[in-house]
Amino acid sequence: MTTCDLAGREAPGSPPAADPVPSAAPAPAAPATPAAAIAEQPPAGPGGHGAFSPDMARKDIPVLHRTVNGHPLVWLDNGATTQKPRQVIEALTTYYASANSNIHRGAHTMAREATEGYEQGRAAVADLLGAPAPESVIFVRGTTEAINLVAQSWGRDNLGPGDEILVPVLEHHSNIVPWQHIAKERRARVVPVPLQQDGQIDLDAYADLLSFRTQLVALSHASNVLGTVPPVREMTALAHRYGAKVLVDGAQAVAHFPVDVQDLDADFYTFSGHKVFAPTGIGALYAKPEVLRSMRPWQGGGNMIDSVDFGHTSYAPVPHRFEAGTGHIAGVVGLLSALKWLTSFDREAVARYETDLAAYAQQALAALPGMEILGSAPGRVAVLTFTLAGHEPAEIAEWLDQDGIAIRAGHHCAQPALRHYGLESAARASLALYNTPEDVDRLVQSLMRLRETAA
Ligand code: ALA
Repeated sequence: MTTCDLAGREAPGSPPAADPVPSAAPAPAAPATPAAAIAEQPPAGPGGHGAFSPDMARKDIPVLHRTVNGHPLVWLDNGATTQKPRQVIEALTTYYASANSNIHRGAHTMAREATEGYEQGRAAVADLLGAPAPESVIFVRGTTEAINLVAQSWGRDNLGPGDEILVPVLEHHSNIVPWQHIAKERRARVVPVPLQQDGQIDLDAYADLLSFRTQLVALSHASNVLGTVPPVREMTALAHRYGAKVLVDGAQAVAHFPVDVQDLDADFYTFSGHKVFAPTGIGALYAKPEVLRSMRPWQGGGNMIDSVDFGHTSYAPVPHRFEAGTGHIAGVVGLLSALKWLTSFDREAVARYETDLAAYAQQALAALPGMEILGSAPGRVAVLTFTLAGHEPAEIAEWLDQDGIAIRAGHHCAQPALRHYGLESAARASLALYNTPEDVDRLVQSLMRLRETAA
């Protein structure tokens, strides 16, 4: 039996019985294989992939053309980190080879050029997020640092005894632990918002938990384990009725679909560069300008001051007062390049492609005997976390690695979410725009061999 038989479709190489793309677009000409049906570019229009096909992205990603353990690499660990386009790698090399300088302080040409590049990066982030101005964007190491910044700066001044921070059970540890730290310090409470069995946030429970004690709701725009995309705009509007602020962790969202922080009305929004095709060690925090202006600096040092005296120190305006020390300048250069690369594609078409690919993967995996996929909320991003009866997640990941397929196994830094399903560990395949139906077929075929070997 083949992967695609399992998926209820014809085997790769055979003509398909039906169009496997769940799309409202006009039916495309019959593709050569079911896989091709998804990867091929159908006519533009609602539900089609428009001007996007994964090969447009793949040709730019050098690492996708290597082999691992004798097999062409299949990278399905995009939730942990994404692979880097040639343009990003070249931008870093060019920066260090011909443009390296510190920023904001030098009175020479290269300092001016580096400063200009850095601020272009800020403007690109503002554009990506639909932020009202570049000044509402702070560069940080990543989502974790951004959340700690908000907890230590905003939280210290706005949380007090008895106050509550609502955090859905599906959150990543980086959106739980910083709140536990500041809650302990301020004698506030972190209150979990329960999940339904399908992985959606229990919105009735959320509405019941909100009160005038709620100072903050901290939730992710897409779950790294379940792929759930909560109704952030509606949840934010509800929180605002109680005067609570809302922080949105966009780490697993920004690479998958367009974001508009003003439409969401989020008070804070954050993401990590390395999950959106940029280098590690760089990320961004957006905050509403009035919120940002009200916040105290969280780290002291150079770059963030207006004037320093032993009697009194005053601070630079936002955003610089939140960027003490020399930042990751090359990281911003790489991020700028990555965002240019990502936004060179039709993002709505990319989102549609990923949705179709995830549906294909879900169907193919679900047909495997012993397979349990966590979460079934509608509108999920392309994250498939699963267990396979009789096989430990770590064993599954090692087996797949022998076939050149990279997935993640473990608790995914989201233990409360896994424990909701009675698990301590699971395997996870997380997809990106450069993944193809053939990647999914390789995954399923390898898992089938694992089952057969164990039988
Ligand atoms: N947060 C990353 C993941 O989900 C590391 O894998």
